[in-house]
Amino acid sequence: MPFDISMHIAGLNLRNPTMLAAGILGMTGLSLRKVWNAGAGAVVTKSISFQPRLGYKNPTIVDVGYGFLNAMGIPNPGVYEYVEEAKIAISEGELVIIVSLYGNTPLEFAKMARIVETAGVNAVELNLSCPHVKLGGMEIGTNPTIIDKIVKTVKKHINIPVFTKLTPNISDIKTIARAAEDAGSDGIVAINTVKAMAIDVESGRPLLANKYGGLSGPAIKPIALRCVYEIAQSVNIPVIGCGGITDWKDAIEFFLAGASAIQIGTAIAYKDVNIFGEIIKGIKCYLKRKGYNNIKEIVGLSHT
Ligand SMILES: Cc1cc2nc3c(=O)[nH]c(=O)nc-3n(C[C@H](O)[C@H](O)[C@H](O)COP(=O)(O)O)c2cc1C
Repeated sequence: MPFDISMHIAGLNLRNPTMLAAGILGMTGLSLRKVWNAGAGAVVTKSISFQPRLGYKNPTIVDVGYGFLNAMGIPNPGVYEYVEEAKIAISEGELVIIVSLYGNTPLEFAKMARIVETAGVNAVELNLSCPHVKLGGMEIGTNPTIIDKIVKTVKKHINIPVFTKLTPNISDIKTIARAAEDAGSDGIVAINTVKAMAIDVESGRPLLANKYGGLSGPAIKPIALRCVYEIAQSVNIPVIGCGGITDWKDAIEFFLAGASAIQIGTAIAYKDVNIFGEIIKGIKCYLKRKGYNNIKEIVGLSHT
């Protein structure tokens, strides 16, 4: 009998606990299908806003050796146009699709959530964590009151699961995670990128047009792991780990820290979509070798 690593998370039945992270290969229906066909247990789209957004001027992304530094500014065609891409992904058959949303107000988040729910997506992920986008002058995701308002408003408007994606750019991520849980969030995604910068020594100017950006990739894995470890002990809803995962060992570390699933972003650029197959195989081998029957048995094991 094949080894079963399916997971049931916040009402979603995942064939395995790997997901595509928001913003990487999530712009079209076909690219989402490509990642699904490579074996991902779920795919998360690029963050979508109500109105189309052009994003920031170039350069928007630089490879800093141990990961990427990006400040894209959430370029996207707006929810009405994007929803057609989601429909393309869905129309080709079985797939678990989570749409990442970025809004300017709680109601805007809710309206978009309703639109994508009607299109048939499985869940939404609220991007309350972009390190270079502001809401009402505040870095979104750093204020429990704003988190509470957004999550509650979205929950009132839809029936599919709501995941809340958090920023590590805050002194106490546990407080924000608890605010999301208290407001009704069905799960937490941790983390988005870490606020950072790079300077060109020849011109003497910041490398990114936006000056600051978000660091992703291997450099942030220990930060992400610490956040998951702290959050998992502070909330009773599932935590999805994200940040610097590049192989099965990284994935196992996140499960041991308390994640019920993991997302992969930057590593796809280094290894392509075959990384999903590699990681799934590695997880199965590890569980077999250690005598576990399923992933649930190791989730949060490092807390004891
Ligand atoms: C180029 C790029 C674009 C991204 N766009 C989004 C986005 O639209 N929404 C979002 O929530 N996160 C976005 N992220 C963050 C990732 O989803 C993820 O949280 C972060 O990169 C850490 O995971 P990783 O190290 O596996 O990439 C983006 C990351 C990168 C590198």
